Amino acid sequence: MINIGSYDERIKNFSWEIAEKELEYKKGDIINIGWYCSDRICEMGKSEKIALYYEGFGDKEKSYTFNDIRLAGNTIGTFLRDQGIVAEDRVCLFMDRIPELYLSFLGVLKIGAIVQPLFSAFGDESLLVRLENAQTRAIITQRKHLSKIRKIIDRLPSLEYIIIVDHNPAKELKEKEIPFSLKNSTPVEEMEIYPTTAESPSVLHYTSGTTGQPKGVRHVHYSLISQYLTTKWVLDLQDDDIYWCTADPGWVTGTSYGIIGPWSLGITQCVLDSGFSAEAWYKFIEKYKITMWYSAPTAIRSLMKAGDEVIKRIDLKSLRHLASVGEPLNAEAVIWSEKVFGLPFLDTYWQTETGSMMITNYPGMKIKPGSMGKSFPGITGVVLDAKTYEPITEPGKVGLIAFKPGWPAMMTTYWNNEEKYKEKFVNGWYLAGDRAYLDTEGYFWFIGRDDDVINTGGHLVSPFEVESALLEHEAISESAVVAKPDEVNMEVVKAFITLKPGYEFDDDTELNIMNFIRKKLSPLAMPQEIEFMESLPKTRSGKIMRRILHAKEWGEEIGDTSTLEDD
Ligand code: WT7
Repeated sequence: MINIGSYDERIKNFSWEIAEKELEYKKGDIINIGWYCSDRICEMGKSEKIALYYEGFGDKEKSYTFNDIRLAGNTIGTFLRDQGIVAEDRVCLFMDRIPELYLSFLGVLKIGAIVQPLFSAFGDESLLVRLENAQTRAIITQRKHLSKIRKIIDRLPSLEYIIIVDHNPAKELKEKEIPFSLKNSTPVEEMEIYPTTAESPSVLHYTSGTTGQPKGVRHVHYSLISQYLTTKWVLDLQDDDIYWCTADPGWVTGTSYGIIGPWSLGITQCVLDSGFSAEAWYKFIEKYKITMWYSAPTAIRSLMKAGDEVIKRIDLKSLRHLASVGEPLNAEAVIWSEKVFGLPFLDTYWQTETGSMMITNYPGMKIKPGSMGKSFPGITGVVLDAKTYEPITEPGKVGLIAFKPGWPAMMTTYWNNEEKYKEKFVNGWYLAGDRAYLDTEGYFWFIGRDDDVINTGGHLVSPFEVESALLEHEAISESAVVAKPDEVNMEVVKAFITLKPGYEFDDDTELNIMNFIRKKLSPLAMPQEIEFMESLPKTRSGKIMRRILHAKEWGEEIGDTSTLEDD
């Protein structure tokens, strides 16, 4: 039996109360995600069930039961509380995908503090702007990432605690640095869970826009309602499933569906903390007998590239259901997966801001390869005319993806930036910032983003952030950053630059600039190509015309540039 039953039946008389009832939550009651994902599952008799299988570099293996993760959450939560961390303080998680990352997530939520997960490959500049913006009070990290924090700590007066989960006693600690070892702590059996309610903030994820610094998307504990139900109906998780979400919790997929969704349903999940290789991934599936796999188009395209031979040598028969998110999932990838795994990847569309899946394909529903599917029950998804902001009823006509606000996992604001948050709404619609069209059967077909943000391998990169970082390089005078087409990542970052007098452009300069960005921002934001120009195309008022450069990369008509003049 599939959990959703029938999509057509579910959209009739849908109410989020379905999830509220299953979670035994009543309006106005306490709702705490940390408690729901561990204590409640134990109360339901699953204390000894495995919650997490972890495999790290060098075949390091660990496993944790639901009681283990309950205790670890208590222990970390109590430790933070003892330091003086209180409700709504921002606690950043800055770790690789080690068990402490997942366990701290629960601990921070249990004391009512706000989790701020950041991708551990972020460089010092990326880290600085996000910690500054959130006025983060504590950061939980590993020794290997300490140097990046030490570099910026003087500029972060709000950051009082740097908690190191793998401290080596032989090494010296600096001011504000505190060791914490889960292994050496006495497990805390009982703790007082902070009485968070539906509106209490839970997770703060940073996302990049076209202009300005990254925005902190503020979620609340009530988001559990839609994360729980979408996990149940779309990912179709059932009690004996072994689930693998390949996303890093530095991004929203890794928290909504890499922690909250599966654990609130009491499902066993696996984490692989190592670099990508087709063989290693397939072997991981074989070893843990993974049944449900949630991944991303870039990974799928990389697997396609690795060829089908390797699949024949590995037993992947445990798989029964696959889904994908983050970027357009091309029809070829769906057709390929049906061929090699006997299962199509179901495309799901949503965003950091939406907190949970919005438009997706469902088990049991007809799949049209290349389409994102239909709105989740309870979600009113439309395509709006870009001028009138009225819904387009005509099939095939491209417009802006928009949703009627009010689903449980929707962001409640951008941190400290209510103005930008308000800009996302027009005529009572939440504008996603993407373009799509509907077909005659109401399926959504993705066209592209409605802004200049670069989506590289499912990760959003702001051209503004890269351009600003480039300007800090000693040789660079001006910069413009656009997406360049890429076979595997769909888009990669490309930079156009002009140089200051006295500098010359050669391979060494290019490599030097690439490294500069990789260290400062992240490997994702690093330009894969840098092109030197004598001057950048500009409007009469002096604004750089990114669109001309973009069109050049994509082999598109540039058209009448006079209309772009002051765009
Ligand atoms: C943007 C959101 C939500 C998890 C990861 C990304 C693009 C997302 C799809 C899809 C085409 C997609 C959109 C969206 N996107 N899923 N299935 N097909 N595009 O979260 O970093 O907030 O990015 O990713 O452009 O707006 P995010």
